[in-house]
Amino acid sequence: MKETLERWSSRRAFILAVTGAAVGLGNIWRFPYMTGENGGSAFLLLYIAFVVLLGLPVMMAEILIGRAGRRSPMQSLGHLARAAGASPHWRWLGVFGVITVFFILSFYSVVSGWSIEYLVESINGNFAGGTPQAIGANFNDFLADPLRMTFNHTLFMLLTMSVVAAGISGGLEKLNNLLMPLLYLLLIVLAVYATTTHGFGTAMAWLFTPDASAITLSVVLNAMGHAFFTLAVGACALMAYGAYMPDHQSLPRAVAAVAVLDVLVALLSGIAIFSVVFSQGLDPGEGPGLMFVTLPIAFAELPGGSLWLAVFFLLLLLATWTSSINLAEPMVATLQGAGLKRGRSAALVGIAVWAVGLLSVLSFSTMADVHWIGEMNFFDLVTTVPTDVFLPVGGLLIAVFAAWVMSSEAAERALDAGPGGFRTWRALVRYVSIPLVVVVLLSGLF
Ligand code: PFF
Ligand code: NA
Repeated sequence: MKETLERWSSRRAFILAVTGAAVGLGNIWRFPYMTGENGGSAFLLLYIAFVVLLGLPVMMAEILIGRAGRRSPMQSLGHLARAAGASPHWRWLGVFGVITVFFILSFYSVVSGWSIEYLVESINGNFAGGTPQAIGANFNDFLADPLRMTFNHTLFMLLTMSVVAAGISGGLEKLNNLLMPLLYLLLIVLAVYATTTHGFGTAMAWLFTPDASAITLSVVLNAMGHAFFTLAVGACALMAYGAYMPDHQSLPRAVAAVAVLDVLVALLSGIAIFSVVFSQGLDPGEGPGLMFVTLPIAFAELPGGSLWLAVFFLLLLLATWTSSINLAEPMVATLQGAGLKRGRSAALVGIAVWAVGLLSVLSFSTMADVHWIGEMNFFDLVTTVPTDVFLPVGGLLIAVFAAWVMSSEAAERALDAGPGGFRTWRALVRYVSIPLVVVVLLSGLF
């Protein structure tokens, strides 16, 4: 297959697309509950360290492969491997990425469906004047209702796959460009409101006071997995976007901006949510429901709360929409590469992901106690293993490929950061990122 000639319309468009993929549920939903379950500051500080030492260098590696190959992930890997005299079996890394995004998207859609439900409920004023107990009970009632959850999950898959099928994600990026600043602004408003609550001091201390004793092996593993997840790295999804990156754009500069924004959004969300947690005497380790219980409580105390809560969930939905489009892209591109039409590929991917998503829906009711591995039900399984194991393994192989396997001339050209920038990046990947993932993964698995 020949190189694609398609390009993002500008350097800015590329940065926007990568931002769209990165900022999503990972920042606003997953980051706070993982921090809550993993001891607060220990998790937060490790996560930031992993973003800098692993997430960023590997993100550059991943996009660089797509940019140098200018094909679908599978074909780029195969092509670049052959050109460097290495085994064409490297292309199976692209298939591993497809498996990873498949499972991630299956729960991502279900949880995005929760946002749809909460958008509708806030428009209806269901949270107005609600006590924390009532708001918590409302969420549990919703989880126990597989029909309502399936409806929202179905709606979200339709939203995602129709954009993917029509190939109009560029339009959505532009819409996002317009509206995401409003989401950031709302998060800033929430964080400022948080400073007025009496839980603020406790929340800040709990988030930012380093506590080495809270660092356990599982905290380290979770923080590493989350760094990959939140940056959308390790599943070849950004590799697919890299294929359309314009010439003459420094890759390190582009992705550094994305990572800074991604971390800031997570921090704002964490500050807002944990101030509510400590003000209301809630449990930080509440789990995946944390955001859906705390934010309605916070907004309920603000003037015009229901309206702002609705706006918030609408914007969150837009943010998750661009991430789910990115998750679907490598699957659809791979089927298309196998000769299927784009629309048919999108339909097939959509139906398969939707069906597996039903297992996550049922994990809150009829299948809550069906354990797949250890104590984990399907939702527990699919929200941990693909993130904490598949993404780091994928990221490791991507890093090895970019820094050791493919030709360094091609890599240097695709990084577009000058010879000095290239040598620095490669040394970082070779001697810091790769050993770090290997050590953490090995100590986690054995
Ligand atoms: N980065 C997205 C988020 O933080 O919500 C999730 C994600 C997108 C993970 C794309 C992996 C991926 F390939
Ligand atoms: Na993110």
